[in-house]
Amino acid sequence: MSVKRKLVVGNWKMHGSHAANAELLQGVLSAQPFGCDVAVCVPFPYLSEVAVTLAKGPLAWGAQDVSAHEQGAYTGEVSAAMLAEFGCRYVLVGHSERRAYHGETDQIVADKAKAALARGLTPVVCVGETLAQREAGETASVVKRQLSAVVHALTHCIGEIVVAYEPVWAIGTGRTASPEQAQEVHALLRAQLAAATPQAAQMRLLYGGSVKPDNAAILFGQPDIDGGLIGGAALKAADFVAIARAAG
Ligand code: PGA
Repeated sequence: MSVKRKLVVGNWKMHGSHAANAELLQGVLSAQPFGCDVAVCVPFPYLSEVAVTLAKGPLAWGAQDVSAHEQGAYTGEVSAAMLAEFGCRYVLVGHSERRAYHGETDQIVADKAKAALARGLTPVVCVGETLAQREAGETASVVKRQLSAVVHALTHCIGEIVVAYEPVWAIGTGRTASPEQAQEVHALLRAQLAAATPQAAQMRLLYGGSVKPDNAAILFGQPDIDGGLIGGAALKAADFVAIARAAG
């Protein structure tokens, strides 16, 4: 049986500057090698400098969003082909901040995932429930609905994506899902994927939402958690490195 490497992805969100990025990446690079796959998803304008800095190293990079369209009159959007030209391996799709602040529907998220795959990028498809949905007992139905749109759009290619379960109430709040809560949802998502592809067991399902150096190991130790999507802690080299170390 092939051993599945864990994956730790930093989501810088709208943070950074030339100076801060250089310092952060130097800090992470100086800690290599890692026993897991590591990537950073950075703001669009920094892709070219990150591509240069990381060209020789083991770290992959990517963007935080992609257009569902191939090209054309879509002011402000960035296509998957453009991201591919900058060496991106990953792109976040359907992050809860995009769903909440930019009106991204399940269908738009599915179309973006499809556009990314068509250009050889790995979409990291984010799903997750709000606090109100969790309290109403809707967690399973919400995440299943979100994933189902992507399964439907990608059909036989679904095994090529990475899924990130990020409970909205845990993002940037310091309130992490317990390992049991996270595992429960990951197991559900894995079962849903297993119904769609024989590759489900080999797919990487990341947990995101206030992952820190002190809770990473127990989260990553759950049977269906294959790594993490890291926001705030990805902006500090020491924290991000400690989280990557916890993954392998
Ligand atoms: P956080 O963000 O680690 O700061 O909670 C995670 C994310 O939004 O991807």
